[in-house]
Amino acid sequence: MSDHFVVVAACGDIAEGKFIKVSVAGRAVILAHVAGRYHAVEDNCSHEDYPLSFGCLDGDRIKCSLHGSRFSLETGEPLDEPADCPIRVFPVKVMDGRVWIDPTA
Ligand code: FES
Repeated sequence: MSDHFVVVAACGDIAEGKFIKVSVAGRAVILAHVAGRYHAVEDNCSHEDYPLSFGCLDGDRIKCSLHGSRFSLETGEPLDEPADCPIRVFPVKVMDGRVWIDPTA
């Protein structure tokens, strides 16, 4: 694992099936808790630079509220048009009851 992991939340901060928005190293990041796992993705739709945090979770995907593209929280890949580029995904680990992400990866 890289040495760049930073704490972004306590495990209890995010209910199952929800996400929060965090700021890490000057980046807006969505931290989602889905099916017992945490995912961190950039809070920016690749289609038109629109905050994905205005949207909602759809299982292990996040849906943009502007034009409806959904992105995999696992890979960042778009699953619907009009977006055709992935969003950035950050490594996540859980340690000592806290959630860590690597914003440099
Ligand atoms: S801005 Fe997100 S799908 Fe268009």
